[in-house]
Amino acid sequence: MQIERRTSMRNRMVAWVLAAGLATGMWGRQVHAETVAQVASPDGRIEVTLDLNGEGRLAYRVSRDGVPVIGDSRLGFIFRNARQLLRNLQLDGQTRRSVDDTWEQPWGERRFVRNHYNELRATFVEKDGDHRRFDMVFRVFDDGVGFRYEVPRQPALQDAQIVQELTEFAVARPATAWWIPALEWNRAEYLYRRTPLEQVGVAQTPLTLRTNDGLHLSIHEAALVDYAGMNLMRGGDGELRALLTPGSPVPVVRATPFTTPWRTITISDRAGGLVESNLILNLNEPNVLGDVSWFMPAKYVGVWWSLHLDQQSWASGPKHGATTDNTRRMIDFAAANGFRGMLVEGWNLGWDGDWFANGWNFDFSTPTPDYDLVGLAAYAKAKGVHLIGHHETACAVSHYERGMEAAFALFQSLGIEVVKTGYVCDAGQIERQDAVGGPVLREWHEGQWMSNHHLRVVQAAARHHLAIDAHEPIKDTGLRRTYPNWVSREGARGMEYNAWGNPPNPPEHEVTLVFTRLLAGPMDYTPGIVSLTGRNGQEIQSTLARQLALYVGIYSPIQMVADLPEHYAQHPDAFQFIKDVAVDWDESKVLAGEVGEYVAIARKQRGAPVWFVGAMNDRHPRTLVLPLDFLDAGRRYRAEIYRDGEGADWHGPARFRFVRETKTVTRGDHLSLWLAGGGGAAVRLVPVTP
Ligand code: NOJ
Ligand code: CA
Repeated sequence: MQIERRTSMRNRMVAWVLAAGLATGMWGRQVHAETVAQVASPDGRIEVTLDLNGEGRLAYRVSRDGVPVIGDSRLGFIFRNARQLLRNLQLDGQTRRSVDDTWEQPWGERRFVRNHYNELRATFVEKDGDHRRFDMVFRVFDDGVGFRYEVPRQPALQDAQIVQELTEFAVARPATAWWIPALEWNRAEYLYRRTPLEQVGVAQTPLTLRTNDGLHLSIHEAALVDYAGMNLMRGGDGELRALLTPGSPVPVVRATPFTTPWRTITISDRAGGLVESNLILNLNEPNVLGDVSWFMPAKYVGVWWSLHLDQQSWASGPKHGATTDNTRRMIDFAAANGFRGMLVEGWNLGWDGDWFANGWNFDFSTPTPDYDLVGLAAYAKAKGVHLIGHHETACAVSHYERGMEAAFALFQSLGIEVVKTGYVCDAGQIERQDAVGGPVLREWHEGQWMSNHHLRVVQAAARHHLAIDAHEPIKDTGLRRTYPNWVSREGARGMEYNAWGNPPNPPEHEVTLVFTRLLAGPMDYTPGIVSLTGRNGQEIQSTLARQLALYVGIYSPIQMVADLPEHYAQHPDAFQFIKDVAVDWDESKVLAGEVGEYVAIARKQRGAPVWFVGAMNDRHPRTLVLPLDFLDAGRRYRAEIYRDGEGADWHGPARFRFVRETKTVTRGDHLSLWLAGGGGAAVRLVPVTP
């Protein structure tokens, strides 16, 4: 009680100091502003306020417990074919509604998702001139805010060529930021930077912040449909500003009526609260595909790691990985261990020579002569295994669009359930050719044209009951709610960098991904490299137990068992966990975590009373004491613990120090886990009959 009162007193003081700062012109924008609308979260803690200043410029701000989180942040558009839309506005009405419902995910981190928010719709119109109008729609949840522009059909705005969206996020408190640069050649495959907020350059979203007084924020977007991806750059007053990914001829071309994607600010006291949030999914439209029971979450193996190790090749010739014999051997391995999927890369024509430069040579339906596609699909099927299709485009995206329908029909006829796609090329080098033989335009992976391309792929795939796992994709904005068959994607620096990256992924990478990239949605990280070694003997900066923890820590409804069969044969204890771990969940909880330092996540297997815990660590050894209060009362559980052994460490032979042990635990217990530097732990909790 005492503590609570002191906290709220402190909050009020902070609020007063910050409000005084704003009024005296911290950004020089608050002067003469008039509040025109307000809306609060269901629990009343988060409040959004809309102001119009003397120029008729619109701004929003967000507070939590009365303390500013986002200060005065302007809204508006700059068009190429029309006057800017940002000044001389007046309010022309507002409506509100509240929603509290629960929906079910066909698969996911949790089965049931509560969607609970208060909505404000405020209509603004220009006071004179063309009297153009738009709505701002704000949805305020207990864990954050989503807002979007809705621009109706109107005589003075029929076709919008949007050069920039003038949306701002003026973070009102000093903060640390975790971010990757935007509009750089390597797309999303960067190590995260940790800098003070004021040192953020041009960043991709989601961007994660922790204010100096301990509030965690994630700025991102939801439902990116027919629009350019939003990046963030620092504006002249220190605020973050939307920077739309370029496109031909401008970032966004839309006829009215249109809506922008939701701009989102997730807010939580705990780092883990960002991970547990459903805000992004809730802001997406419900499933439009209907029954999607044709997809089953599953683990898969593949002709893959050997390619990245350069032991085998995508290209045909003596090192070709996708041969009939090699694939049969891998199908046998999958069948013997209960893995449903079998990815084969390099199976089709087009890999020979410099495929990176010649995406137009790919044939998406024709196997190489040494690969018996039809025979292998049948061989797999007889053993309960399903081939996973692979289409690398090397960014010849229009070429892919012309071939994909036939390829998907072929895949469906072969019992294939998942297709991994790839868009390897430098950012900004996507090749778009609207008419056969016409000019080739260059687009960005995160641009409007690609936002539409990916949906064309996902919809075509759905017609053939195929799921899509896109590598070098556009960012995830929760569209898996609407199109559940968009099951996973890459979109970050994955395990492949541990094969050939310089540097490989450092110990803090995965514990940063959980609180940054993974806030957007599932990632095909391709875990489980128990050999802990890349090309030319390069050490992977991880312990053995950490490779197991990745299966719980990094959510994806398809999880690769990425290492070579002969490497798993050397680590039968560790391999047992990979065989046992689930891929689909009733519930997920973050038990402990700090961005970029450590994380422990508990997940309950879908449809079974079995729990899994995955814990991962940065380079500093630590002990986590985790409450087991998520277990059922009155039940005893066998905890199968796979952890770092004494002296384990992220480099040298100590990477392999590993212990598997069993204990009996109940809901009242705590699990104490020592994590090595770069280490981790994986636990399976199975009820035992007393
Ligand atoms: C990059 C992808 O991330 C990787 O998984 C794939 O093997 C190569 N492209 C080839 O398509
Ligand atoms: Ca990649």
